[in-house]
Amino acid sequence: MANHPQFEALIRRDEILRRTAEIGSEVRASFGDHGEPLILCVALGGRVFCRHLLEHLERGLEVREVRCSSYGVRTESSGEVKIRGLEGLDLRGRDILVVEDIVDTGYTLSKLSARLEDLGAARVRTATLLSKPSRRVVEIDIEYIGFEVENHFVVGFGMDVAERFRDLPYVGVYDERLDPAVAGGTQRSAPA
Ligand code: IMP
Ligand code: MG
Repeated sequence: MANHPQFEALIRRDEILRRTAEIGSEVRASFGDHGEPLILCVALGGRVFCRHLLEHLERGLEVREVRCSSYGVRTESSGEVKIRGLEGLDLRGRDILVVEDIVDTGYTLSKLSARLEDLGAARVRTATLLSKPSRRVVEIDIEYIGFEVENHFVVGFGMDVAERFRDLPYVGVYDERLDPAVAGGTQRSAPA
């Protein structure tokens, strides 16, 4: 059975939830003048933030998911982004709120926004839990940012490293020395 290492908490759960509620009320107040909004969650990482954000929005909104994958070396993104989940949707005239876990280089978000606009969206905005401004390669506008973080690789609250640690209830700094799956992880032999 996997055992969660105690990664250093960068952002505590209560801080995340408080900030999410603030963003929720701003988003909620901004809906209406562009017709029925579409919440577009960038899965898998954006799911946890999206679920909490939805608790602060009106009920019955249309919610969909897209998957975006970029081909890069390890944790490094690349300009090539593959988007799945928009097939067959009529997005003409729609007011779309993209919900992301983290904006790093900005490639994913800029490609996704451009695609949505190509498909006729009337308004595309983004809410992201985290942003790493020092890593930005593509300049993009982000309307709602939970927290700006330094150049750490973070996990938890939906974010992963190799599909693990999405279930941490806070945002932590990934440290492979504490990762039991990495040879030499100090928790490997630690008592439970
Ligand atoms: P970008 O295209 O470089 O902006 O990266 C976007 C995606 O890379 C995010 O949506 C995340 O899924 C992933 N990512 C970037 N930085 C981190 C991190 O520190 N932890 C986990 N995932 C990350
Ligand atoms: Mg993501």
